[in-house]
Amino acid sequence: MILINGTLTDEASARIDATDRGLLLGDGLFETVRSHAGVPFRLGAHLARLATGAKRLSIRLPLPPDQISGAITDLLHANQLQRAEAAIRVTLTRGPGPRGLAIPAESQPALLVQAVPYTPRQKPNVTAVVVEVRRNEASPTAQLKSLSYLDNVLAAQEAKSRGADDALMLNSRGRLACGARANLFLVLEETLYTPPLTEGALPGITRAIVLELAGAAKLRTRQSPVFPDDLMRASEVFLTNSLEGLLPVSEIGGKKIGVGEAGPVTRSLMEAYAGLAANRS
Ligand SMILES: Cc1ncc(COP(=O)(O)O)c(C=O)c1O
Repeated sequence: MILINGTLTDEASARIDATDRGLLLGDGLFETVRSHAGVPFRLGAHLARLATGAKRLSIRLPLPPDQISGAITDLLHANQLQRAEAAIRVTLTRGPGPRGLAIPAESQPALLVQAVPYTPRQKPNVTAVVVEVRRNEASPTAQLKSLSYLDNVLAAQEAKSRGADDALMLNSRGRLACGARANLFLVLEETLYTPPLTEGALPGITRAIVLELAGAAKLRTRQSPVFPDDLMRASEVFLTNSLEGLLPVSEIGGKKIGVGEAGPVTRSLMEAYAGLAANRS
């Protein structure tokens, strides 16, 4: 089953309008949420980011966040995911419109929610390469989880074709912005660095949690520009996203990072993060 504007619908009979601007123009937003045993992790933060993005794009949310949240619980039950690990995808589009770019005065936004079983990657570390595809930090959409994900699709494909698990994306100034589907962290001289949002990084939910956990552990943190050379000097590098949590990077462009496995800072943050998920907090 899937949810369309809050109504449980059989997936086979669910329909989205052929003139939907999400489909034709990427005019919309999405969220990806991890659910542990029927409890979506940090759903409130995801729906708040969705609401902020929708406001920025002047897309009306068809349902208020608390109703979306209740409908997601129903969907998890309908799909028998109340005891399983699951991936929830929430998609908001501006809805149908006439040909052309102009935003219609009246729109009927569509909210789609899918929930499927999720099996975590079986590898403890990932390899990465810095890809050619760049992140445009000056674009207003860099701060939004917009449906226009083609740059990220191409970045991920480039990494795969070069034999790596993940892509690291530079911004237009040649500094690191993020992964194709993740935020980037590195440990350099006892300090945890992550590119600031102004470098083209998405305001990741996991990124914010990691910064909080690092602060609570009295780790020195810096949101400041990260250069390609910094990666090679880093003792630890990891990626973060809602589905996978913290993903240690063992190798970048064929060069080993640290000892080639999760270092002490990454491990302690992974433990603290797992504790939050286990306590459903
Ligand atoms: C480009 C990009 N940056 C960062 C993230 C991580 O965001 P979050 O932690 O909110 O999942 C994602 C997740 O898909 C992403 O696509």
